[in-house]
Amino acid sequence: MSEEPFDAAAAYRWSLSAEDRARLPYYDGLVNALSKAEIGRTLLEEARPEQRNPMLVLAALHYGALCADPVLAPLYDAIDELAPEEFASRVVSRLEERPDLVRRQLHRVTQTNEPGRSAVLAAVLGELKARGVDDIHLIDIGTSMGLNLYPDHYRVNVQDPSDPSVLVMHDLNGNVRSGALPIVHQRIGIDLNPLDPEQPDDVRWLEACLWPEEPHRNARFRSILEQMKQWPPATRLKGPAVELIDEAVSSCSSNATPVIFHSWVAAYFTLAEQREFRGRVMRHAAAGAIWIYFEHPSSVPGLDPPPSVTAPPRKGGSQIVVSEAGAEPASWGWAHPHGRWIALTAPPD
Ligand SMILES: C[S@@+](CC[C@H](N)C(=O)[O-])C[C@H]1O[C@@H](n2cnc3c(N)ncnc32)[C@H](O)[C@@H]1O
Repeated sequence: MSEEPFDAAAAYRWSLSAEDRARLPYYDGLVNALSKAEIGRTLLEEARPEQRNPMLVLAALHYGALCADPVLAPLYDAIDELAPEEFASRVVSRLEERPDLVRRQLHRVTQTNEPGRSAVLAAVLGELKARGVDDIHLIDIGTSMGLNLYPDHYRVNVQDPSDPSVLVMHDLNGNVRSGALPIVHQRIGIDLNPLDPEQPDDVRWLEACLWPEEPHRNARFRSILEQMKQWPPATRLKGPAVELIDEAVSSCSSNATPVIFHSWVAAYFTLAEQREFRGRVMRHAAAGAIWIYFEHPSSVPGLDPPPSVTAPPRKGGSQIVVSEAGAEPASWGWAHPHGRWIALTAPPD
């Protein structure tokens, strides 16, 4: 962990990538305003060290709007009716009056559950199926609300404007197979705080974690929640991944291969947890499990990510890593952190 004192203003300034700043002028304006406002910096400093993420403050403000705060709700409902700077200045003024709007949410975690990552997972599973993996149990580490436990139920890149839950992923080098996926038998999600799609407040928190300038993600989330009611049930285990991974694998029946998957989760582990997690997973891999992860390599040094022969084709890509049948993890390419594009480079047989 860094020994540097926490710099809240810098954390805000770095919280959005250049691409997101250009795409999201209202959130760009808001992080700028929060970085300059004492209340913005103070609230971020009050968060638990591992959650001092500006996204937590942004989600808490958005949550206030979704809970019908009389000032925030109209601002967020008609976000593009004001100039971005005016929107930001009114939100910060409200925060100065009512810092409890954010303070009461600081116990939470930014748990954004991005179903676009299922398109990346499905691409890897399709490749594994082509190599003879027919039946699996899926264990999703850091599952949040479990939206990535159903890679076999999403429709990817189909032309259906009536269905907002379709996942759109650009296949940059044309390596994604269009064939079948392995059959998923058991689905197990592990999370420090699993969210329940039947609980309105859990649903509202996940909506708050989405960005108000991307209403299509909200429409997709709502549509998926409806469809999930028809999908097979999943088991959710609550607690730290390092403590529950063995239990999850041993609860799998022997009729299929356990697949241990995680996306944008191990970055939240301490270095020691990352190392211990890797050791445990590799013991399961030696016994036949498959390990698939999708994280930014610089955030997971304790997983010892493999070198990649190809550089990410676009800035900010996450590395796709796969370990099959006890073999050392190998780099299978890169994907956009939310699954908007993939460059799959599965190693040759
Ligand atoms: C950024 S979200 C990603 C959620 C999901 N994997 C996805 O890709 O959409 C990170 C999730 O990891 C969970 N998490 C963080 N540290 C964890 C740990 N040590 N053990 C289990 N879950 C953890 C958080 O509660 C949160 O739901």
